Amino acid sequence: MLINGELKYESQKLGMNYFRVALVLFGAQLLMGLIAAIQFLYPGFLFEIFDFSVSRMVHINALVVWMLYAMIGSVYYMIPDETGEETVGIGLGKLAFWILTAAVAVVVLVYIFIQVGPGNESTIWFINEGREYLEAPRWADIGIVAVVLVFYYNVFATYMKGRRTGIMTVMVANLFALAGLYLTGMFFTDNISVDQYWWWWVIHLWVEATWEVFVGTLAAYALVKIIGAKREIVEMWLWIEVLMLFGSGILGLGHHYFWIGTPEYWWEIGALFSSLEPVPLVAMFVHVLYDWGKEQGHCESKGSAHALNNSPAMAWVTANAFGNFLGAGIWGFFHTLPQVNIYTHGTQFTAAHGHLAFFGAYATILIAMMYIGVQGSYGIKKMTMTFKTKMALTLIIFGVLGMGVALTIAGYEQVLVERADLGGGWDAYFIAQDLPWYIQAQGWRLAMGVVTFVGFIYLAWDLLTIGAVESAQEESEGAAAAAAA
Ligand code: HEM
Ligand code: HEM
Ligand SMILES: [Fe+2]
Repeated sequence: MLINGELKYESQKLGMNYFRVALVLFGAQLLMGLIAAIQFLYPGFLFEIFDFSVSRMVHINALVVWMLYAMIGSVYYMIPDETGEETVGIGLGKLAFWILTAAVAVVVLVYIFIQVGPGNESTIWFINEGREYLEAPRWADIGIVAVVLVFYYNVFATYMKGRRTGIMTVMVANLFALAGLYLTGMFFTDNISVDQYWWWWVIHLWVEATWEVFVGTLAAYALVKIIGAKREIVEMWLWIEVLMLFGSGILGLGHHYFWIGTPEYWWEIGALFSSLEPVPLVAMFVHVLYDWGKEQGHCESKGSAHALNNSPAMAWVTANAFGNFLGAGIWGFFHTLPQVNIYTHGTQFTAAHGHLAFFGAYATILIAMMYIGVQGSYGIKKMTMTFKTKMALTLIIFGVLGMGVALTIAGYEQVLVERADLGGGWDAYFIAQDLPWYIQAQGWRLAMGVVTFVGFIYLAWDLLTIGAVESAQEESEGAAAAAAA
């Protein structure tokens, strides 16, 4: 990750810078998660020094921001490969990167140091907008819009100038929707139902529509790049998924409108369409495995013409196919019917789904893109897994799955005791949190969080060193082959 030596395009170098910041923010996200998890068990931990409200907020905002960084990085990285052109406004793009990074640093410092106190019109502008996941104050909101406009102009103009592949066509159209949706979370109303109604447009229509399509394009690009999958096949799947994701995802929004004061017809709409949401996720899963299987057969018959050239990336793409299906598809479907959701709403079950889905659907594929970036930066022809790659894969996946299971158990206890047995009142909430099943589950979550964090250290270490290690190995193999010949 440290050098860009072999990259021919400025756009790809810029992409690598986005990946670097993403990795730092990912680490920060996990540290904040650990603090919040300790506070679940020991509520006095850092009380009035670094409150739960702050650690939780920084945890989930850092999550969203590192993912957006890695997404922008991926786009800048793939633009030259797909279009055959350097990004049109690359100078402006670089400037936007530095402005955005400076703004993110200021916002994080404000989150951490100036948080407690009364809220009014000026705090919305300068401290915190108070919308979960998108808490950035309004000045930063407006700055983000400006930076995203530069980014979108760059993608669009380069697309118009260069080769227009199917992957890029979907990318350009989808990014327009993705960026446009951010605007729906920017205006303030003093009616909490109206506010939540629009807020969900960003949160739900990002993660269950536009981000899903986005990772579909990344998976397509990655498969073409690392196993030489046939473009016609991945692009055909991509179009099918776009159709299905928008079909189920848009009205699936109804599963957040059950209890926020919106009309009751959302029960039926939300139940029906959100239950269909796992269908495209199954299709994506089949897509990756089908392409892979087909390509394997193809390689054998042709003497491995397109053998796998980046095993770490392929491992994470595979984790993505499974993880998206499990975290979003299965864990999402569990609680999406109003008859179930009335019991599970806002319990630790929701947190289990949130962790498994964000990790499975997004973290995995973005990590794969980082490995593709490292491969390009060092000009490695065939990148294999190091010991660190394997440790990172094992510990992170095991840790996140473990956290998911622990939180599911805690959620199950809340459903039974707090909701079903005690009727879901104020007292019931606290009684349920004092019982052993809940406390033990929170203990396991913390332990699994530590495992995840150790895995992250291996990941960062690997990303920083694998390029040099693998290219040295290729060179020495090349020299040995030359000497033998
Ligand atoms: C990658 C895709 C997805 C991600 C990243 C994701 C993430 C999340 C997160 C973080 C929440 C909690 C929001 C909050 O703080 O209130 C949530 C809620 C929810 N998700 Fe997903 N989700 C995804 C896909 C799905 C799918 C496909 C379904 C249904 C089939 C689903 C069903 C739900 C439901 C019903 C809730 C509300 C839970 C409650 O009432 O407490 N999600 N999701
Ligand atoms: C070191 C590992 C981690 C620990 C200890 C941890 C801990 C936590 C804690 C304590 C919360 C607050 C839950 C609540 O308010 O009930 C939380 C929320 C959340 N975390 Fe993590 N986390 C970790 C890693 C991750 C990862 C890897 C992701 C995704 C890629 C993630 C995504 C989320 C999301 C989406 C929420 C909000 C969930 C909701 O409100 O439903 N976390 N995490
Ligand atoms: Fe949703």
